[in-house]
Amino acid sequence: MSFTRIAQLEEDFQLATYKKMDIAVERGSGAWVWTSEGEKYLDLYGGHAVCATGHSHPHVVKAIQEQAEKILFYSNLVYSNIRARAAEKLVSVAPANLGKTFFCNSGTEANENAMRAARMATGREKVVSFSGGFHGRTADSISATFLGKYREIGRPNVPSHVQAEFGNIESVASVADRQTAAMILEPIQSMAGVREAAPEFFREMRDLCDELGIVLIFDEVQTGVGRTGNWFFAGSELAGGVEPDIITLAKSLGSGIPVGACLFNEAVASSIKENDLGTTFGGGMMAMAAVLATLEAIEMDGMIENAKAFETLLRSEMQNVVRVVAVHGKGFLIGIEFEGACAPIHKQLLDSKIITGTSSAANVLRLLPPLCSDVYESVTLLKRVLSGITHN
Ligand SMILES: Cc1ncc(COP(=O)(O)O)c(C=O)c1O
Repeated sequence: MSFTRIAQLEEDFQLATYKKMDIAVERGSGAWVWTSEGEKYLDLYGGHAVCATGHSHPHVVKAIQEQAEKILFYSNLVYSNIRARAAEKLVSVAPANLGKTFFCNSGTEANENAMRAARMATGREKVVSFSGGFHGRTADSISATFLGKYREIGRPNVPSHVQAEFGNIESVASVADRQTAAMILEPIQSMAGVREAAPEFFREMRDLCDELGIVLIFDEVQTGVGRTGNWFFAGSELAGGVEPDIITLAKSLGSGIPVGACLFNEAVASSIKENDLGTTFGGGMMAMAAVLATLEAIEMDGMIENAKAFETLLRSEMQNVVRVVAVHGKGFLIGIEFEGACAPIHKQLLDSKIITGTSSAANVLRLLPPLCSDVYESVTLLKRVLSGITHN
């Protein structure tokens, strides 16, 4: 079917709630996708930070195919070999204090469950979250999202959410108290324009939470599963070694098969009783096959090391590109800040067959490439187009 026809059908029959690029993606391999018109694009956006292992990684595809032939689904009311192995593998790469998983279906659902668990563990209701943070679009998660107009979209909001300033411990201390159940934050604020905080901030957050008995939640929906050059931001030197009480995950975790997860420490996990949390599809066999194979593929192909190499080369190559003001972020979660608005640059890159993303900061272009990307090729192609644009 032609692009025009595909676009027309989507416009006719799909709710007009997404701003789309003018391409229809038909297939992908590694860091490349092909469109309905047979054109090849370099994907520096990874399907919105989802396709971490690259498009249709053979190991992941094989695992899904094999699982599909055995059984598509059975719920958590039975044990499952593939669920057992996926949970064991996920815990094995997580920070040492996080020994229990809860599988769900998306990032927002992971955050809902994390906040609920924190309230159950503490017997408190208040949740502190941050200016510029994004946590999803269901009721509790959108109420914790102080970025832009999201809380407005989510009205009426869940009560007991308060805002602190990201990276500013005095601001956090001024709203946190012994009525606070949880603090939830994106350790790198992706949608806000890839905003970072110093390791000291995470250490001070940890101390404050310990002092007041507050559950610390890292929303690693974007930063998790290798993207920053560590399995998780939590516990890494980027976080000053800080281990939160809960990590939430989604996006990359299943290489594109929808899946979310919470990782809990023992103190929180032991406060959750039978039937406190649950979801029909969480831990389904197809998703679990995808999780296990994703983690294995990242390990086998050395993708975490690749993330560090990408950041290093990109930072160095962007130095001489006219109008690039700064490079933010870590590994494969990068924000390139320009002198002016980046929307025209995003468009010109697309015209040059490179997919990138924008952010809520008008001058920050976001890169969320597959972790398998060829570092030299990606940076070279990007630089070539950016240099051409800025010299025009
Ligand atoms: C940091 C973060 N948390 C949560 C979410 C929500 O995830 P989902 O769209 O899977 O519900 C997102 C989605 O973009 C996100 O970036």
